[in-house]
Formats: sequence, structure tokens, C-alpha cells
Amino acid sequence: MSAPIIAPSVLAADFANLQRDVEMLNNSQADWIHVDIMDGIFVPNISFGIPVCQAIDKHAQKPLDVHLMIEQPDRYLEAFKEAGAEVLTVHYEACTHLHRTLQFIKSLGCKAGVALNPHTNVQLLKDTLADIDLVCLMSVNPGFGGQSFIENTYNKVKDLKEMINATGADTLIEIDGGVNAQNAPKLMEAGADVLVAGSFVFKSADPAGTIGELKAI
Ligand code: DX5
Ligand code: ZN
Repeated sequence: MSAPIIAPSVLAADFANLQRDVEMLNNSQADWIHVDIMDGIFVPNISFGIPVCQAIDKHAQKPLDVHLMIEQPDRYLEAFKEAGAEVLTVHYEACTHLHRTLQFIKSLGCKAGVALNPHTNVQLLKDTLADIDLVCLMSVNPGFGGQSFIENTYNKVKDLKEMINATGADTLIEIDGGVNAQNAPKLMEAGADVLVAGSFVFKSADPAGTIGELKAI
């Protein structure tokens, strides 16, 4: 079991001090910066869009892991690539032609990610797994930070890990929602590679120290 890739979510940052918080991430053991885009249609909340992603990118010294919780994501993939995305994750539930979308993300030179809502079975990715660089398993219903972790996620991680091993793909498993120091060791044991953490990092007294704590798991 290797060390987790830590991707703090700036959704829980102080938006009035984004530069300060991004610089804190630059100086921490964070590996990626997770950027949550919500359109108010796919999810019942609006976060921020392309100009804010650009502003984060201007100060970030780490890869932007952009999680698109939006309908018809194909319309904006190029714009988010231009805004600094290195990982571009779309939702399975929002893509009618997922295979085409994945090829397009790769043609932009980004890593292609697919996120699954808690109710979506991992087996649905069997036929596209070889084309997916990262699967983001939602461990809360997307739309808000600070929700509690859904325990069934461990089963999904195990099932997905088995599928990945069986196909010989090198797809990374990312967990997003309610991640903390209690569930992180179990997630890593089950086969996770990337841990997203919003509230647990930014609401702690020492965010950089908390990132170090997750990295040491
Ligand atoms: C939820 C977002 C998450 C969120 C995680 O819709 O996709 O990335 O920021 O926040 P926490 O860690 O607070 O659950
Ligand atoms: Zn996210």
C-alpha cells in the first residue's frame, strides 16, 4: 500500500482569501488541488466557474483536479483545460456518450476521470475502464461539502479495485466526500489511491498539518 495522493478541496476554503489558501496548499504535502464545479442543475448547488478556476490556477503550484458536477460537461471541457485543469472528471450520470467524452478529454492532454454517484454501480464502467485514468467514487451525494461519509463506499472501492486488477488497467481510485483521518486508513486498505478532503482539512485548526496527517496514512 503506497501513500495516498492527497487532493484538498478548495470548496471548503475561504473564498475571500483564495490566494492565501492556495499558497497554504502549495506549501503543504498536498499533491493535487481539487476544484469542485457545480451548475445548480446536475447538483442542487452552485459553487463557482471558469474565472475562479483560472484564478486558482494562477497561484497553484500543484495540478488542478477539476470535478465537473454539471450537465452536458462536453460543452465546457476545453474551457476548463484552458483554465488549468490537469485532471478533468465528468459524472457518469451526466454523459450520454461517455466513451466519446473520455477520448475528447484525452485529446486535450488531460487525465480523464469519471465520477460515480453513491447509487451508481461500479460495474457500469467495465467497458470503459481501459480508457479511464481515474474513477472518483462519491462517498456523499454531490452538491455540498461537510456531509457524512457513506459506509457502503468501502464495498465499492473493493469491487472497483478487483475490476481494475482483473483488466490490468492502471486506473486510480479517488474518494470524494466526508473523508477524514478515521475512514482514510480503511479506504486505503480497500484499494483507494487518491483522497479528496474539504472540511476535514480547511475547518481544522492547522490545515497544512491535517494534510500531513492524511498523507502519513
Ligand atoms: C461534494 C464535492 C466534494 C466536497 C468534499 O459535492 O464534490 O469534493 O468538496 O467536501 P468534504 O470533504 O467536506 O465532504
Ligand atoms: Zn469533488
